[in-house]
Amino acid sequence: METLTVLVVDDEPDILNSLRRLLRSEAYQSLFARSGKEAFHFLESESIHVIITDLGMPDMDGLALLKEVEQKYPETIRLVLSGLHDSDSILDAINRGNVYRYILKPWDDMELELIVRQAIDLFSLQQERRDLLKELEEHNRLLEKRVEERTRQLLAIEREAEIGKYASQIVHNLNNPLQGIHGGLDIADLMMSDDNPDLKNLRKCLQIAKMGALDLKKIIAGILIHARKKDLHRTEQIDINEILKRELGFFKLDPVYKYKVEKHVDLSDNLPQISGNPIQIKQLIDNLVKNAIDAMENSPEKRLTVETRLEDKTVAIRISDTGEGIAEEDLARIFSPDFTTKPIGKGTGLGLASVKTMVEAYSGDIQVESSKGEGTTFTVRMPVDRSVFRDER
Ligand SMILES: Nc1ncnc2c1ncn2[C@@H]1O[C@H](COP(=O)(O)OP(=O)(O)OP(=O)(O)O)[C@@H](O)[C@H]1O
Ligand SMILES: [Mg+2]
Repeated sequence: METLTVLVVDDEPDILNSLRRLLRSEAYQSLFARSGKEAFHFLESESIHVIITDLGMPDMDGLALLKEVEQKYPETIRLVLSGLHDSDSILDAINRGNVYRYILKPWDDMELELIVRQAIDLFSLQQERRDLLKELEEHNRLLEKRVEERTRQLLAIEREAEIGKYASQIVHNLNNPLQGIHGGLDIADLMMSDDNPDLKNLRKCLQIAKMGALDLKKIIAGILIHARKKDLHRTEQIDINEILKRELGFFKLDPVYKYKVEKHVDLSDNLPQISGNPIQIKQLIDNLVKNAIDAMENSPEKRLTVETRLEDKTVAIRISDTGEGIAEEDLARIFSPDFTTKPIGKGTGLGLASVKTMVEAYSGDIQVESSKGEGTTFTVRMPVDRSVFRDER
């Protein structure tokens, strides 16, 4: 620790001499000034931690000196050593000079030594407190900076997760038409092994594969457009019944669907068109129908019901199955992108999450009713353009 310095100011050389002798062996350094002017000379060139001054001096009144010290060097501890014994002078000095102690002349050596040591200790304590405060401020500043930094990182992570979620939904939706292509080509391949293949059926298979390829193309175009944030604005008038019929036709590639599932299709014939992106509606139907077929895998009775209705100025699509149903506690989780009860490779859990995101983008809604062991019904409602109902009023 640095050596602390005491400055003694008195115009009487005798007093300075005896104080010099008295304070010589102390742990702090002592300096001696014979006038206010000399005192300032020291104050400007050295660090003074404690100042002890006489009051009546020819060039500068001790109180004026203390006032100035208080202003310029507020950390310095101020003491008075004076022959003025009347209480007014003492009080005045203490109040106006804001001094720590007032020592009377003639002084008691031991008492003076003790008081100066206390003043030195006081300075050290106050200095320590100032250092601690400074350190605390520095810590706070660093902490604020770290919080800021962490917040920025978290926001970046969240953004990335959002992008990741979107990317995996895209991949999921690419998978369905790909399966159509695959299925169509597989069967075509099988037919080709026949010496005399049925060209009509072969063309049908290739047609199915071609439709899948076209869907892929449209999805990719949709992604590119979405990337330019125009996706949902680029809409057309869609006939949901038409899309449903076509999609259910595709499911016939699946032998379970074709031979084992009993199908009830009841499409309303007064269904208004809705404006939207047909490829998104197609994905929605694919996901719900595929889930229904999967759910009935082990059910003795496999019945799929597909309905469309005009209900409360919305187009309602209802897809019911007689499958395994959904446990009550899972109902709240099925729309989450990481919820699946299917084995790895069979299900990703993204299907319903992507359906929900899409339906909500159309300001529509999706509801589910299910009882374990009996079956499930999903109802999607898409708002119909208000213009359709204009004639009613
Ligand atoms: N019709 C249904 N009947 C019973 N359970 C269902 C039905 N539809 C969805 N579920 C349950 O919800 C879960 C999540 O469905 P979601 O479509 O989001 O993902 P997935 O079907 O598991 O995977 P992927 O869609 O990628 O094939 C399913 O794993 C299943 O447990
Ligand atoms: Mg699914």
